[in-house]
Amino acid sequence: MKETSNSMSQDKPQGRFLRAKALTGLIGGVATAIIAISCATVDRVVLAPPMIPGAKYVGMDTCAACHEKEVKNFKLTQHARIQIPGEGPRVEGEGCESCHGPGSLHVDSGGDRKLIVNPRKSPEACFQCHLDKNAEFSLQFHHPVKEGRMSCTSCHDPHGEDILKPKEMQVGRVNQDCAQCHREQARPHVFEHEAMREGCTSCHNVHGSINSKMLTERDNNLCLKCHAQIAMPKTAGQVFIGTFDHTPFLQQGTCFSAGCHTAVHGSDINSHLRY
Ligand code: HEC
Ligand code: HEC
Ligand code: HEC
Ligand code: HEC
Ligand code: HEC
Ligand code: HEC
Ligand code: HEC
Repeated sequence: MKETSNSMSQDKPQGRFLRAKALTGLIGGVATAIIAISCATVDRVVLAPPMIPGAKYVGMDTCAACHEKEVKNFKLTQHARIQIPGEGPRVEGEGCESCHGPGSLHVDSGGDRKLIVNPRKSPEACFQCHLDKNAEFSLQFHHPVKEGRMSCTSCHDPHGEDILKPKEMQVGRVNQDCAQCHREQARPHVFEHEAMREGCTSCHNVHGSINSKMLTERDNNLCLKCHAQIAMPKTAGQVFIGTFDHTPFLQQGTCFSAGCHTAVHGSDINSHLRY
């Protein structure tokens, strides 16, 4: 959070959902002004959009003259519905310019690339509103976005109706998205693990996790959340998973340790997901 904390009030809470109400009194700084925005049902507090010295906001309709495709698709996204509450017409931080900065100089020059921000590599444009994501990508195990080896747009399309891609997409397509880079895990197998149908995110927190391999849980709970264990009467002390007595195995390590169900993503040789 170090990029943003300096502009947040010291004595205000910095949670996942910073409520606009808590901070409305603070609006009015300079380059790092805090703006309260609302989008449908959600209130968030954001930092000011990128700055371009001397440029003014012109609004999305002006961009449409030259970037018809982006504007058309963008209008279908949740981001297009973000509105800055306030007196009169305001376009600061709304629409295209919330990520690209004020566009007047770019427009007047007929499209000079040096006079507009392209947040291609930098996640900062996204972190200004998604503060919680900055924290997730700082966890010990994470996709190397802050390191510049990939970007938010490797998985999210900032313009298309697919900005919410992973979330709205059918599971099959989420896996396909991951497949671009993780072919081995996402490929079809002779013996599929049905868990894959619920998507990679049923086991992985793909922004970041405190567990290695970005697992949602680091121990047997990862598997037992779907595979109910049936405990026999206490005296017997046996634990069945499926029809098989797993009592001795559960003490030896995780379900996916060596010798057990190592082929968690599917197996070509064994229906019990073993190699
Ligand atoms: C008068 C036409 C025109 C208008 C209006 C216009 N642009 Fe552009 N824009 C261009 C041209 C031309 C390019 C350069 C395309 C190229 O070189 O490939 C460009 C490039 C861009 C790029 C890519 C910059 C890069 O470094 O890759 C972004 C981002 C962009 N425009 C955003 C905007 C936004 C946001 C608006 C509205 C505020 C806007 N444009 C309005 C003509 C325009
Ligand atoms: C949520 C943030 C966000 C918003 C809002 C946004 N963009 Fe972008 N835009 C990006 C990012 C990130 C990239 C870089 C994508 C990449 O190269 O992976 C980009 C790239 C571009 C490019 C360069 C495209 C290219 O192929 O090089 C243009 C042009 C552009 N945006 C125009 C617009 C217009 C017009 C709007 C409003 C309709 C808009 N953007 C709204 C984040 C945004
Ligand atoms: C001006 C503030 C702002 C900026 C900048 C911004 N977002 Fe958002 N974004 C929001 C709001 C508000 C929502 C509505 C849902 C929410 O609060 O999670 C949202 C929703 C999303 C969602 C869908 C969330 C859901 O629950 O369905 C994704 C994915 C997303 N943004 C990604 C990005 C990415 C990637 C970038 C940078 C390219 C970005 N956002 C930049 C404010 C912003
Ligand atoms: C490796 C792919 C990947 C990358 C990189 C990625 N995301 Fe996501 N994102 C996802 C997936 C998958 C989901 C859906 C998670 C789910 O449904 O459990 C998601 C969900 C979201 C959501 C909505 C749900 C939530 O967790 O709030 C937001 C907002 C979001 N991402 C923002 C971002 C931002 C901002 C970045 C860059 C800093 C980013 N993402 C980078 C894959 C990615
Ligand atoms: C644009 C390429 C790209 C996409 C798309 C992508 N990843 Fe990754 N993934 C990476 C990179 C790069 C690493 C880091 C590898 C490293 O550090 O050596 C990684 C690491 C991982 C790891 C940890 C691997 C390990 O050995 O620790 C997991 C798990 C993972 N990704 C799952 C996913 C899932 C699930 C998705 C889809 C939501 C996804 N990835 C989408 C590029 C990608
Ligand atoms: C049923 C839970 C589960 C699902 C679903 C799942 N994974 Fe995994 N994944 C794991 C476990 C467990 C590991 C760690 C294996 C280990 O450490 O031996 C792992 C490891 C990985 C790794 C690190 C390399 C490796 O194979 O050890 C990558 C990359 C990966 N998964 C990607 C994906 C992708 C992409 C998807 C969706 C197509 C996916 N995973 C779905 C449980 C799952
Ligand atoms: C999202 C739910 C889910 C998660 C998480 C999950 N599984 Fe599964 N798994 C299933 C479903 C559904 C089936 C198919 C029905 C069945 O056999 O119970 C299955 C089947 C299996 C099978 C084949 C059953 C057989 O006949 O031998 C094994 C082995 C297995 N899972 C191991 C694991 C392991 C190990 C983990 C943890 C890394 C895990 N599963 C996590 C849902 C899940």
